[in-house]
Amino acid sequence: MVSLCQAYSSTWATPVLLAKRVFSLASSPFGHKISRHYSSFRAFNSASTSVCLDSKELRSTDLVDLEYAELNLKYKISEEVGHVRIRQHVNPLSSSFSKPAPVPAWDEVYKDPSLPLMVDIGSGSGRFLLWLAKKNIDSRNYLGLEIRQKLVKRANFWVNELRLSNIHFIFANAMVSFEQLISSYPGPLEFVSILCPDPHFKKRHQKRRVVQKPLVNSIVQNLIPGGKIFVQSDVLEVAQDMRDQLDEESNVLQHMESVDTEEGWLIENPMGIRTEREIHAEFEGARIYRRLYQKLELTT
Ligand SMILES: C[S@@+](CC[C@H](N)C(=O)[O-])C[C@H]1O[C@@H](n2cnc3c(N)ncnc32)[C@H](O)[C@@H]1O
Repeated sequence: MVSLCQAYSSTWATPVLLAKRVFSLASSPFGHKISRHYSSFRAFNSASTSVCLDSKELRSTDLVDLEYAELNLKYKISEEVGHVRIRQHVNPLSSSFSKPAPVPAWDEVYKDPSLPLMVDIGSGSGRFLLWLAKKNIDSRNYLGLEIRQKLVKRANFWVNELRLSNIHFIFANAMVSFEQLISSYPGPLEFVSILCPDPHFKKRHQKRRVVQKPLVNSIVQNLIPGGKIFVQSDVLEVAQDMRDQLDEESNVLQHMESVDTEEGWLIENPMGIRTEREIHAEFEGARIYRRLYQKLELTT
């Protein structure tokens, strides 16, 4: 039998494609788990560097590295910020996160601050947004809002490394800072994503969930007509909560039925790349519940 290493070494596929191929072998989205043990696997990126997973158990972190291989990022940027350990969820309602983040000088963070903006709320490591920014250098600006300062510091380090002038990360509690930051942006707000937000399972902690009425109102108000909101979660209850809150705005927002759905949830991630949490969750066999909304065009 041809090993995965041999099978792929003669092809000129992108690491993303390869990661998806490996992923589809490793698990299925609806709970089937297949053996994750591979004798050999090698992926080539366009610069001819390679990632080889030889004779070891495939972990979801390997899949994340593969999916984002073309960014070629180094992890340890200083003693302080290296492989950032993710603590349990932070409490966004604590007084330490109550101060609004300062509004940056937009013309200092973006080459062209008049471009349409995509905001990712709870951007985590930032790699998802970095990948998109690299693909759309001249057409869109990207802003990540993240409540963990070390992740923001490392993400902005990566922005500089990749020499991208259309992306920036801000250490901010989105519940407190979204309105002030986004209403000051000179260009149009075209896209907002909230992907796998912290679930805060306990009933008494649900008010810590990032999607709350004031944030929804602010997103809807700032979004241009035709602009989109993409939300997803691997926790059904959290996805339903976000869906219910966005569905309440049905006078201005409509769920995009033109994309393939199953039981009202989008089957595919429409962004062309999965987030890190999404990769980990799918690897464990979880289903991802997604909704994509569009703000209605103004009628005269
Ligand atoms: C489960 S992670 C998901 C990260 C990324 N979106 C993904 O799908 O891989 C949720 C992220 O949201 C951040 N977060 C939680 N509450 C937040 C808030 N109020 N404002 C900004 N970021 C927040 C967390 O620190 C964490 O990085």
